Amino acid sequence: MHIDFTGFAFCIHTFGCQMNKHDSERVHGMLESLGAVQVETVEEADIVVFMTCCVREAADTRLYGQVASIKNIPLRENAPVSKRLIAIGGCIGQRDGERLIKQMPHVSVVFGTHNIHSLPALLYKAIDDSKAQCEIEDASNSFPTDLPQRREHAWAAWLPIMIGCNNFCTYCIVPYVRGREKSRTIEDIVSEAKRYVDDGVKEITLLGQNVNSYGRDLYGSPRFAEVLQRVADTGIERLRFATSHPKDLTDEVIESFGKIDALMPALHLPVQSGSNTILKAMNRHYTHEHYRELVRKLREVVPNIALSTDIIVGFPGETEEDFLDTYRLVSDIGYKQVFTFIYSKRNGTPAATYEQNASREEIQDRFDRLVDLVQKRAFELNQPDFGCDVEVLVEGVSKRNPSLLSGRTPGNQTVHAPIPSGMTIDELCGRFITVHVDLCKTWYLSGTADPKSVR
Ligand code: 5AD
Ligand code: SF4
Repeated sequence: MHIDFTGFAFCIHTFGCQMNKHDSERVHGMLESLGAVQVETVEEADIVVFMTCCVREAADTRLYGQVASIKNIPLRENAPVSKRLIAIGGCIGQRDGERLIKQMPHVSVVFGTHNIHSLPALLYKAIDDSKAQCEIEDASNSFPTDLPQRREHAWAAWLPIMIGCNNFCTYCIVPYVRGREKSRTIEDIVSEAKRYVDDGVKEITLLGQNVNSYGRDLYGSPRFAEVLQRVADTGIERLRFATSHPKDLTDEVIESFGKIDALMPALHLPVQSGSNTILKAMNRHYTHEHYRELVRKLREVVPNIALSTDIIVGFPGETEEDFLDTYRLVSDIGYKQVFTFIYSKRNGTPAATYEQNASREEIQDRFDRLVDLVQKRAFELNQPDFGCDVEVLVEGVSKRNPSLLSGRTPGNQTVHAPIPSGMTIDELCGRFITVHVDLCKTWYLSGTADPKSVR
């Protein structure tokens, strides 16, 4: 089938994690390579793609609302179609399939997490047959990264090294909607990284639900440390990865932080809870003692490593004592960033059948106390940067003030500074500049950028 979307305008709404954002870049790249152009609003768009997330209930509910709300928005003048094409992909597409079409008859296409490559053909068929199309089976043998891609930033790239998850944490829907772990070959990963470096990319983030077990399915044992080394050898300036499961974080990977210059001193290491009882109920396969030991080893290698984590409050059965264990752990570890979530029941997961003993108010109160602590600790941990020079990779202007450049330190901290006079943000984006820090807030640093330091 010859597919041509010349004359079509599309927009993409993305929810959820980096994997979804990356998948959206693939959708963008694919539609663009077939002639369509991206627009900002639904009003201007002939094709609207939703890349969905069902990890928590909030994103799930929002999707149904958003899709319903665009039903009556008229098409632009001279649109190439008589009816707007609405496509739903990502985790909800995978989970709900045909049900989405039954519930929302104005939806044209539903595609699963392994079916991104089919989207153009499905859209075409939806126009030709005037009938909604759905493809959610795991039909693809090719890794989804063989598709064209349009990156959000020219200088930063996400590089999926594996998809899926084998862990089955009892609260989590991901293994059911993203399937089992499937790794790409090292050669494939390295050649994509090389292409990025040749293309001027400065920062690569390796992606996977559990990158520490990378390669187990292909090679019989994990080879993530090797991937880190091989990707660093391409000459990339900054290398990061997400996400790590503490049970699989090996000494070899910890040591990589000391050996590989490009590997940035920042690690997202989701702990989920500080209570051993709850960790067991979550099927996490580690104790808080083991987690603390990992942090000790990491700090032995990189004393200033910036740690971030995910925490779920109000998991079924969590008592005040369990919560206090989490509170203590967060206080002791000292995270630069904590993503805090209230437990949300996901049908089909084991925890959905567990009994909840705490009230909504109790859980909200625990959540609020934890957020206060997180902010207090993040503020404290930023103070040592006062008066220091930090090297920032410039990403754009500050959202609140367009006269300030915004970028990130090696530790992934956001930094703002006035754009040096005589320079424009366009010439600074994707380049490194040194900032002398004179203000340390909870979520960002600010200071003065040295125009002579630009590289
Ligand atoms: N309820 C609340 N938070 C959840 N997460 C995953 N599943 C749930 C759930 N059912 C959180 C975990 C995970 C992050 C991406 O989302 O903390 O690390
Ligand atoms: Fe979900 Fe656990 Fe897999 Fe992370 S490791 S995606 S929390 S099942």
